[in-house]
Amino acid sequence: MTERLLVTGAAGTVGEPLVRALSDGEASVRVATRDPERARDAFGDGPDPVEFDLGRPETWGAALADVDRLFLLYPPGSAVGDVREFADAADRVGVERVAFLSVLGAEKLPFLPHRRIETHLAQTGMAHTFLRASWFAQNLSEIHRKEVVDRDEIFVPAGDGVLSVTDARDVAAVAARVLTESGHEDRAYDLTGPAALDFREVAAVFSDVLDRRIEYADPSRLAFARRMYRRGFSPGFVAFMVAEYSVVRLGRSGRTTGDVEAVLGRPPRTLREFVADYADEFRP
Ligand SMILES: NC(=O)c1ccc[n+]([C@@H]2O[C@H](COP(=O)([O-])OP(=O)(O)OC[C@H]3O[C@@H](n4cnc5c(N)ncnc54)[C@H](OP(=O)(O)O)[C@@H]3O)[C@@H](O)[C@H]2O)c1
Repeated sequence: MTERLLVTGAAGTVGEPLVRALSDGEASVRVATRDPERARDAFGDGPDPVEFDLGRPETWGAALADVDRLFLLYPPGSAVGDVREFADAADRVGVERVAFLSVLGAEKLPFLPHRRIETHLAQTGMAHTFLRASWFAQNLSEIHRKEVVDRDEIFVPAGDGVLSVTDARDVAAVAARVLTESGHEDRAYDLTGPAALDFREVAAVFSDVLDRRIEYADPSRLAFARRMYRRGFSPGFVAFMVAEYSVVRLGRSGRTTGDVEAVLGRPPRTLREFVADYADEFRP
């Protein structure tokens, strides 16, 4: 029997490559989004788009109808309670397996929204797999792209801290395996890139691949916050980013693991591969 998979956050950084990976396989894929029309434009006729809003429980029934497996994420800024209630609804209607996108180190942070959701999922009847990912390389092409393009700068307040940058396409590839293969039930994977890099090293990779000089600006946290507010990011999101880079400054974000390779049977993508693949987005 063909499995039916529901992908939440399907238009997002991980969801989009996940939907594409799943659509190449045999499962039937339903795309949950607040904007089904946009999803139809993005994915064409293959996957089946359905309106879904965590804040509107009246959209959950149609999204979950006949679903066996679920890719779940916590949209930043959403209510944790909504995600937990949605997970309960999925459990009630017979979803068998859930892969949840979490963050590296969540198990040590009981008050983190992702950890609170993990704890809840572990108490449902669904087989669960936690994908605890480190910082996405795609933050550089999404949030921090503007400074690279306009000023030839990487503008993050990370000091001399190192990060094990993960390519979100690898996280999506792991999610696709977890949802379609057996053997991943009731496990947590720590998904990182192959190396811990500081932002001078990141800037050097950019300079080399893009063939122009990209500097690491190394701003203070205050200068970073001011610039991000001026660019229109919400105060909550700016505060979240400052907190995240404060952890990087303390040297706590450099852990690398072999989990991507263990699941995919190939090493994780390097930052160099990411910059080469996204080079057009970084051109002025
Ligand atoms: N960025 C990183 O470095 C990083 C690293 C590890 C983990 N994470 C975690 O990854 C998660 C975000 O994943 P992502 O980066 O793939 O997503 P994203 O690109 O940030 O996109 C957010 C997604 O959430 C969906 N969404 C927003 N509000 C919603 C609502 N009310 N109801 C239903 N869906 C809603 C949006 O879907 P529609 O607009 O289509 O409705 C969109 O697809 C977060 O929990 C984040 O903490 C991020």
